[in-house]
Amino acid sequence: MDDKKIVFSGIQPSGNLTLGNYLGAIKNWVSLQEDYHCIYAMMDMHTITVRQTPAELRRRTLEILALYLACGIDAENNIMFIQSHNPAHAELAWVLNCYTYMGELQRMTQFKDKSSRHAENINAGLFTYPVLMAADILLYQADYVPVGKDQMQHIEICRDVAQRFNAIYGDVFTIPEGLLPKVGANIMSLQNPVKKMSKSDPNPKAYISMMDDMNVIAKKIKSAVTDSEGVIEYREGDDTKAGINNLLSIMSAVTGRSIDDVVKDYAGKGYGDFKGDVAEAVVECIRPIRAEYDRIIADKAYLTEICQKGAESARRISERTLKKVYKKVGFVV
Ligand code: TYM
Repeated sequence: MDDKKIVFSGIQPSGNLTLGNYLGAIKNWVSLQEDYHCIYAMMDMHTITVRQTPAELRRRTLEILALYLACGIDAENNIMFIQSHNPAHAELAWVLNCYTYMGELQRMTQFKDKSSRHAENINAGLFTYPVLMAADILLYQADYVPVGKDQMQHIEICRDVAQRFNAIYGDVFTIPEGLLPKVGANIMSLQNPVKKMSKSDPNPKAYISMMDDMNVIAKKIKSAVTDSEGVIEYREGDDTKAGINNLLSIMSAVTGRSIDDVVKDYAGKGYGDFKGDVAEAVVECIRPIRAEYDRIIADKAYLTEICQKGAESARRISERTLKKVYKKVGFVV
């Protein structure tokens, strides 16, 4: 291989992708593919920590691949695959489980959040989820992991476990770094802007799905919760301004203009005008992606071929890491 660095990331096919997933992750992935060897996976094994409908999970996994492609990830030069097609993820996860402490996992925000939302099903997989995620990343010796802000805690634990392992056995793993986009790393709910936008939100008005109709997208933005101050200004950390901060971040991320520039345009203007323009900008951003998606999703044979090819490459790369790990811990290889 040449000396290009390695990028790994993935998304759980646990619901329709949101604008948050696009702006926080995929948009950044697209920009990285020129300069790095990129591996982008559909993380189906992670989704079953929460009950899924099997037929839906199967359908969504391919839909996510079609969206990756529609957003501009090039299938020729990157590896895209379904996590469960590479058994090395589960194998390395088991080893890393034995090098991760209960206390570390207990501190994870996502675990606390998901176990309160699914109190009837606090399973061991939900608890050790970050270990599987560490295995995903470390198997490919990834240098960078482009994610949204909510995943940074998982990247931190991945680094800690990798460093711990390396301290015992020598340089086995590359220590990965999380990469956040400049804007859009934390897109918030449209209905409760102090909470992140999430595909599992029970209120569909709270998120923009990449699968929503264009008029639905516009409506959701126009009915986003803001405040009664009537001033379009970005105030980091001010919860009363969370709705406007969020719309400004979205506008900046979809247009590529800085937040300051956007704020200048709206001096003295009202929220109605502003929301109308944000709605239009988001629709213009998603419309071409949707058109491309509709074309690609119809071609199941093409999607299946990408997954098969991707899984072969993924297995080939990760086999080297797994062998090394097995040897280091004392398994007969
Ligand atoms: P997931 O499927 O919840 O989200 C996929 C990506 O979208 C980002 N994201 C957001 N970014 C900005 N604003 C938001 N509101 C928002 N919501 C989601 C996430 O940060 C993420 O980058 N555990 C991961 C999947 C995963 C993974 C991995 C990622 C499994 N193994 C290895 C990277 C490397 C997850 O649940 O993401």
